[in-house]
Amino acid sequence: MGLNIRGRSFLTLLDYTPQEIRYLLDLAKQFKAMKRSGVPHRYLQGKNIVLLFEKTSTRTRCSFEVAGMDLGMGVTYLDPGSSQMGKKESIPDTARVLGRMYDGIEYRGFSQQLVEELAKYSGVPVWNGLTDQFHPTQMLADLLTMEEKFGRLKGLNFTYMGDARNNMGNSLMIACAKMGLHFTACAPKELFPAAELVEKARAIAAETGGSVRLTEDTTEGAADADVIYTDIWVSMGEPDEVWDSRIRLLRPYQVNAALMALAKPTAVFMHCLPSYHDTRTTVGAQIAERFGLTEMEVTDEVFESKQSVVFDEAENRMHTIKAVIYATLC
Ligand code: CP
Ligand code: NVA
Repeated sequence: MGLNIRGRSFLTLLDYTPQEIRYLLDLAKQFKAMKRSGVPHRYLQGKNIVLLFEKTSTRTRCSFEVAGMDLGMGVTYLDPGSSQMGKKESIPDTARVLGRMYDGIEYRGFSQQLVEELAKYSGVPVWNGLTDQFHPTQMLADLLTMEEKFGRLKGLNFTYMGDARNNMGNSLMIACAKMGLHFTACAPKELFPAAELVEKARAIAAETGGSVRLTEDTTEGAADADVIYTDIWVSMGEPDEVWDSRIRLLRPYQVNAALMALAKPTAVFMHCLPSYHDTRTTVGAQIAERFGLTEMEVTDEVFESKQSVVFDEAENRMHTIKAVIYATLC
């Protein structure tokens, strides 16, 4: 059964019902099957989209570009240095210009208010490609990946370890609540999600059969988990100075083999990526030099283990983003 979400923006999963999320996941599965079997799906030929990135990206940018091209659309990419937005032109003005030229706008940037403002003024669907508060397209990929691994979403025990009040912690709490999973944020209390958002998530979970729990105790948090998820300790846009305190706070929450052993034997490890699991990146090497830490939020052993499904997640970004573009434009 199809639902009609044509013309809608995709800014946070809070705006979407479980049925609408289900519709997008099912659509993504169809697109994935078509892509895998080489069936063309240029359903949006003649349309054009623009991708605005005020922060760097690999997965989100490439997913929007490939999804757009597979759907037959024209795609324009604007990086932080190459548009007037913010510096010489306000968000409302930029939105009204781009809305005259494009059928849809993707935005990755700083505050949630900015993406909401773009959506308010553009007159076309706006897709949130990550703000400080939410990362909703990542959520669809994560839900699809879990459903592929376990054959269901409802009732799964999901544990997020680390900075639980960043865009990933916030978004995963809402996504799990919407789809009836049991969500645990396992973090130092300084990094718990905001009380107001926890309340919202609990109200949603009460309707879907899910639950929301916060704990500082890693043994309690990891016990019986079906999924252990983590994210980098310092997010894009945060100052370099926070590394020191963040490492101090989050070192006990590193996902390593001992922690995975507390979860169910069938548990999977998930991460939105990019990840600091070794020193083969500039930042990874600098942190090793400064703090003597060669692995951060996850050990290389867990990252490379059979339990790790991180590259399936990355692939699913493209299929799920294609579903969002198609459903909101078609
Ligand atoms: N997960 C994610 O959003 O990756 P990018 O920063 O590479 O887009
Ligand atoms: N919390 C991370 C997510 C990256 C996909 C960041 O905002 O940098």
